[in-house]
Amino acid sequence: MTLQSELLDLASTLARTAGQMVRDGRRRGVAEVTTKSSATDMVTEFDRASERYIVGRILDARPNDGIVGEEGTDTEGTTGIRWLVDPIDGTTNFLYGLAGYAVSVAAADERGALAGAVYLPATDELFAAARDGGATCNGEPIGPSPNRVLSGALVGTGFSYLAERRVLQAARVASIIGEVRDIRRFGAASADICYVAAGRLDAYFEEHLAPWDVAAGELIAREAGCRTGDFGGGPMRPAQLLVTTPALFESFVTLLSRPIAP
Ligand code: IPD
Ligand code: CA
Ligand code: CA
Repeated sequence: MTLQSELLDLASTLARTAGQMVRDGRRRGVAEVTTKSSATDMVTEFDRASERYIVGRILDARPNDGIVGEEGTDTEGTTGIRWLVDPIDGTTNFLYGLAGYAVSVAAADERGALAGAVYLPATDELFAAARDGGATCNGEPIGPSPNRVLSGALVGTGFSYLAERRVLQAARVASIIGEVRDIRRFGAASADICYVAAGRLDAYFEEHLAPWDVAAGELIAREAGCRTGDFGGGPMRPAQLLVTTPALFESFVTLLSRPIAP
């Protein structure tokens, strides 16, 4: 087994198992809800339990890897492999009993993500990819939509938990909504990115994300044949992520490079 396939198997198993665990736990209700970066940035006992479970299983299988998780895990490793874990991406949806949440697990080396998995418990869909190995949903190859027309593009985006950032992000959305088919804000960045990978959205963009939001999804999208980058067309970074069908990338760079009115 190659390193890539070992990491892909582990990421896939952990994302799926943790996702099923939080979905089943949610049916019994949410007991603990606290806030983090702002009054609307919530964390539940299921976010913490999912991270504990994933981190424990990674340490069992690969005790010398580094791990960074949204709920506080931050361990240095010695192998050159570092895991990036979002134990529930879309916590607001999860808390409200909405379907759009995911578990995102990626393993990266010095060149970026090497393997990644995003599991959507509500639809029982596992999106996964390893570097240079293509991307799949529940084992079947996926690819982006053939859309080449900006005015026909269905576009996903998301908003930060900080009010002053959301106001600017909303102004950006207002500045492009007249030029695309429509906008969607589903509420889980990792799932949005996988939807572009699978042709369910034509483009997705968001600012102020964290590495665990994007590591698995961005690899899945690239391996599916999408283009990814920052808003200026440079290398992708969590602070600014654009994912599109191959034909639409330059049009979105032009749209997103325009100054927005504050
Ligand atoms: C959030 C979701 C949301 C995005 C936010 C993220 P969380 O992650 O991915 O869609 O718009 O920027 O912070 O807090 O639910 O893990
Ligand atoms: Ca997240
Ligand atoms: Ca999260």
